[in-house]
Amino acid sequence: MNALPNVMELMVMENNKTIPLPNGFELHEGHFPERLEEIGRFRIKAWRHENGISSSFFSQDAWIDSIDNQAIHWIITQNNTIVAAARLSFHDDLEDVPYNDFLHPEHGLLFDHPPIASINRLVVDPAFRGRGFAKILDQERIKVATQYGSKVMIAFPQLSRLESLQRLGFSLISQLRNIPEMPERPFFLMKLDL
Ligand SMILES: CC(C)(COP(=O)(O)OP(=O)(O)OC[C@H]1O[C@@H](n2cnc3c(N)ncnc32)[C@H](O)[C@@H]1OP(=O)(O)O)[C@@H](O)C(=O)NCCC(=O)NCCS
Repeated sequence: MNALPNVMELMVMENNKTIPLPNGFELHEGHFPERLEEIGRFRIKAWRHENGISSSFFSQDAWIDSIDNQAIHWIITQNNTIVAAARLSFHDDLEDVPYNDFLHPEHGLLFDHPPIASINRLVVDPAFRGRGFAKILDQERIKVATQYGSKVMIAFPQLSRLESLQRLGFSLISQLRNIPEMPERPFFLMKLDL
């Protein structure tokens, strides 16, 4: 059952933005408490057939965590159906960043200027890949983090993302141990000075 958004949520939703993209796609930026469940289901659906993932983790209906409630979300839609999604969150402490358990002690020195902008949960529907949607979502998240006044962005990309993030200015810091959700996919740490 979908609960109606409360007054606070409605105020937040008023600041959401929609930008038309070519070919009838739309980019939405903001807070979508009323669509969070749909975003969580989309993440599962778009990841489920990738190699190297945990089939038990991706057998759940939706992938949502507590950071989703505070994060800024981007979704690309076609006919109001989500075809791509990503999020950005801000953290005063590296310990609050998603995947902080995978960092090494020396990484703390690289991210000691809060707020730390963290990007994750980027996913594009397999049928809509190769159209530049990931690039748009990366560029928008960098733009908003800069506007927010953040001086550093942290990213935990997959192997296939390293080169495109490097082209956007990210530095590769190190490879981390693989996360249990994706036990056979190499996992990395990258940093962008904003
Ligand atoms: C990775 C993913 C988000 C790319 O989305 P996309 O919309 O197809 O990517 P784009 O068309 O915007 O391409 C972005 C860049 O990535 C490169 N790229 C895209 N898919 C790639 C792949 N499988 N291998 C290598 N490079 C790839 C493109 O060449 C492009 O480079 P450039 O912008 O520097 O020229 C998409 O394949 C996906 O959802 N994969 C499964 C989930 C995932 O891996 N999420 C990322 C977690 S870090």
